[in-house]
Amino acid sequence: MKINLLWIMMLGSVPLFAATMSGQALFEEKCAVCHTKEKPTPEIRATMIAPPAMGLMFNLKKTFNNDKQASLAFMQDYAVAPSAEKAKCMPQAIKRFGLMPSLKGSVTPEELALITEYMYDTFPPSGFQPLQLNMKP
Ligand code: HEC
Repeated sequence: MKINLLWIMMLGSVPLFAATMSGQALFEEKCAVCHTKEKPTPEIRATMIAPPAMGLMFNLKKTFNNDKQASLAFMQDYAVAPSAEKAKCMPQAIKRFGLMPSLKGSVTPEELALITEYMYDTFPPSGFQPLQLNMKP
């Protein structure tokens, strides 16, 4: 009885979990710990260790003229091979937070495709005020 139950739980949950990781769930697991999804309040600002997702995407879309494919390609490369030379959107961010550590080995290209698609389609939220981009603490 005990064995049966365990077996059913394993059969039921493992494939389901692997198949349903969405871009949002992956973003929350692998990026949001540094790139907050929230609009940065003074409290968040004080402890931020990377640019918030909405400011990052606002800058990125401006830099790439809302070219989605170019933006996604840049992000997918940057996440596994960041460098000061490549960073084009937020030079002030590197000054404040330091260079992003490479996520090579902890995120797959397939996961990055889902994550960046989600980020592009979600941030910044409508009504976003670029003034919030002020990076000063
Ligand atoms: C350990 C913290 C950390 C994690 C985790 C992290 N980042 Fe970053 N990221 C940073 C920091 C710090 C910067 C700003 C400095 C820089 O551009 O290198 C940054 C900047 C970026 C930029 C902007 C580069 C530019 O030139 O404007 C992109 C795109 C990016 N991150 C994507 C991601 C994605 C996608 C993930 C998740 C798969 C992720 N990051 C996870 C810390 C992190």
